[in-house]
Amino acid sequence: MFRFVPGRLLVIICVIIVWAQCVLYGGPALLVAADTPANCSFDAVSGKWMFYIGPGGQSNKIDCSKPWHAVSQWSAMLHFPDVAVDKNGMTGFWTLIYNQAFEAVIHGRKFFGFFEYEVIDRKHVLSFCNITTGWVHNSDGRNWACFKGERVTGPGVGDPPQSYTVEEIDEERLYKPNDEFVEKINKHQPSWTAKHYSRYDNMTMGDMQRRAGGKKWKNAYPPPTIPDKITQIESASLPDQFDWRDVGGVTFVPDVRDQGICGSCYAFASTALQESRYRVLTNNSIRLVLSPQEIVSCSEYAQKCDGGFPYLIAGKYGQDFGLVDDSCFPYTEYNEPCRPVTCRRFRTSDYHYIGGFYGACNEDLMKIELLRNGPVAVSFEVYDDFLFYTGGIYHHTQLTDRFNPWKTTNHVVLVVGYGYAGDDPDTGEKFWIVQNTWGDAWGEQGYFRIRRGTNEVNIESMAVATLPRP
Ligand SMILES: *[C@@H]1O[C@H](CO)[C@@H](O)[C@H](O)[C@H]1NC(C)=O
Ligand SMILES: *[C@@H]1O[C@H](CO)[C@@H](O)[C@H](O)[C@H]1NC(C)=O
Ligand SMILES: *[C@@H]1O[C@H](CO)[C@@H](O)[C@H](O)[C@H]1NC(C)=O
Ligand SMILES: *[C@@H]1O[C@H](CO)[C@@H](O)[C@H](O)[C@H]1NC(C)=O
Repeated sequence: MFRFVPGRLLVIICVIIVWAQCVLYGGPALLVAADTPANCSFDAVSGKWMFYIGPGGQSNKIDCSKPWHAVSQWSAMLHFPDVAVDKNGMTGFWTLIYNQAFEAVIHGRKFFGFFEYEVIDRKHVLSFCNITTGWVHNSDGRNWACFKGERVTGPGVGDPPQSYTVEEIDEERLYKPNDEFVEKINKHQPSWTAKHYSRYDNMTMGDMQRRAGGKKWKNAYPPPTIPDKITQIESASLPDQFDWRDVGGVTFVPDVRDQGICGSCYAFASTALQESRYRVLTNNSIRLVLSPQEIVSCSEYAQKCDGGFPYLIAGKYGQDFGLVDDSCFPYTEYNEPCRPVTCRRFRTSDYHYIGGFYGACNEDLMKIELLRNGPVAVSFEVYDDFLFYTGGIYHHTQLTDRFNPWKTTNHVVLVVGYGYAGDDPDTGEKFWIVQNTWGDAWGEQGYFRIRRGTNEVNIESMAVATLPRP
């Protein structure tokens, strides 16, 4: 998906801000993209912003892709990592969302926008971290308007936009699993085993990459934070193992699903997060199967079959729009157009990155949140060895498959528990128990275990928690 950067038409009388948002479907696939190609860091985003706001008083049906003009403006300082201050000195909150977007809540108004970028050609992208377009509304979900933001001071203002070259894969080529690679993984280490999945035989490189989260234009994983003393003490007091699939014989986790070849892991992880949290919150009396397809087809907070983030879907989309039942909009695996549905919407009342903001998470905080409120959504880097996982405690082997030049992707999944290998919690290899969305014939009945406490493949720094509204 490409959003073409607007001509910035500045016009005389009032500030008229026009931008176009073009989405190409069905055309030649120029690039396999997950998320957007913006690559914005804390440094590139913190500083003073001006927000130009369009006519308010609207509902969540507002269409910000149509031209509008600004009728008011706000300024806000965004300080690293999460403090926003408006011009009257009111403090609020903000967070970066991966390297793509930000959300700020100041004085009862919630701003959210993706950063701009420009796709120059097949291989070259410019990232404008000083420009954002998006939606603003009251924290209670009323009074919507469109806004455009411009960063006016901060590190690197005036520097040329970041440009980078996109690494391409041959999307149409058959993936062709390589048995030698599988054998190499199994010989290399005893902790986990790999196998050849015949299902991969007829997948293309593009299918495989979308399934694994979609190609990352650029991975952006902050390191996990160091837990403070209180967190460490609380975490140490928790059980050595816990599994939401078996709490005194009762499960709070929905069944494993299969996303197929659409880059919709974020939608499946979001529905699974909400479903399991409803179960935990209501002691299993609300057991839903929610619709990933409605998210893929209708949410402007994600990029359809090209990726998205649970913060924005289970969290923000759940709060602003709500998720519908699966039967209301069944899964098709494709970028199907949105059609309006009138089914009941299940809302999110609260959402956050564990630890408070993007990059604030760590193992101890994840454990505490998991035990207190239920499963959590995490993102991690998929290397080629992971595709062949069939059991054991995964860690990245550093081996690469030279027949299938793989670019790391960014997959989203649901952590449902944790434990350790063997009999001794102090010396046994620690792991997370994670539900994947590649069907129950993959891994350990659809699940995998992965090393815990070492930020393996970056799984511990950006976990997301939500609170559903019963
Ligand atoms: C993306 O941004 C990060 C942080 O500024 C930078 O280190 C990295 O090189 C950028 N990636 C590309 C492809 O330019
Ligand atoms: C955004 O930054 C680019 C350079 O990175 C600059 O050319 C442009 O004028 C800036 N735009 C605004 C609205 O500040
Ligand atoms: C690919 O393989 C799957 C499962 O083995 C099968 O259901 C599907 O029809 C195959 N698709 C093609 C295009 O051969
Ligand atoms: C939760 O549900 C189980 C099974 O129905 C029941 O035995 C248990 O007492 C309930 N717990 C609470 C706290 O209501």
